[in-house]
Amino acid sequence: SFFNLSFLPKYTSFFIKGVEYTLLISIVSVLIAVIPALLLALMRLSKSRVIRSISGIYIAIFRSTPLLVQLALVYYGLFNLVKIPSYHLFGFINLAMFIPGVVALALNSAAYVAEIFRAGILAVDSGQNEAARSLGLPASASMRYVVLPQAIKNILPALANEVITMVKESSILSTLGMMELMWAAKTVSATTYITIGPYVLAALVYFTINYPASKAIDAIERRMRRGDKR
Ligand code: ARG
Repeated sequence: SFFNLSFLPKYTSFFIKGVEYTLLISIVSVLIAVIPALLLALMRLSKSRVIRSISGIYIAIFRSTPLLVQLALVYYGLFNLVKIPSYHLFGFINLAMFIPGVVALALNSAAYVAEIFRAGILAVDSGQNEAARSLGLPASASMRYVVLPQAIKNILPALANEVITMVKESSILSTLGMMELMWAAKTVSATTYITIGPYVLAALVYFTINYPASKAIDAIERRMRRGDKR
């Protein structure tokens, strides 16, 4: 039944390891995504139509196809190009799954984070850029020293929310056998024949991570906005 948690305490370690993997994968994926995302966002705001559309096509493709399909393409595609050795980083991170898994999540996330960056940059009053330019700053310096530092305020909370999204989306890596939280639930369910309990626990753990985190992000965001109105 829903409340059959008799697989605990024997299988507690599966869930603990699972949470560790889930958090690691999610944070690493978003951190990696930030670099191409900034590039995509700046390309999106370029004067050149060609550069704008290259970025636009990337974002369109990754937002309009399922992550599960992207994962399959990266997993089999990457294996076709380079053979990833079955090496365990720090003794427990299986690179043969970790690399394609994180690459797929990061490529996907980059498309969404690019839009976060773009919106964050556009939210900075255009007078800021105009003032910087009229004082003689080149466009790149104005972006780097005037616009981006102010855009950070809009970007950071959205980026934290993207980590929360990744905590949920990374459950798709269980299909590779990546031993994250969803995999723990699946495996415990299959080995104990207790079908619902392990998934109920997984849901509870996801909720316990994400709900307080999103509330905290909301609170920080509200406080930052208050600082703006002087
Ligand atoms: N669930 C969506 C899919 O299967 C992926 C959404 C990813 N969202 C994000 N903010 N990275 O395609």
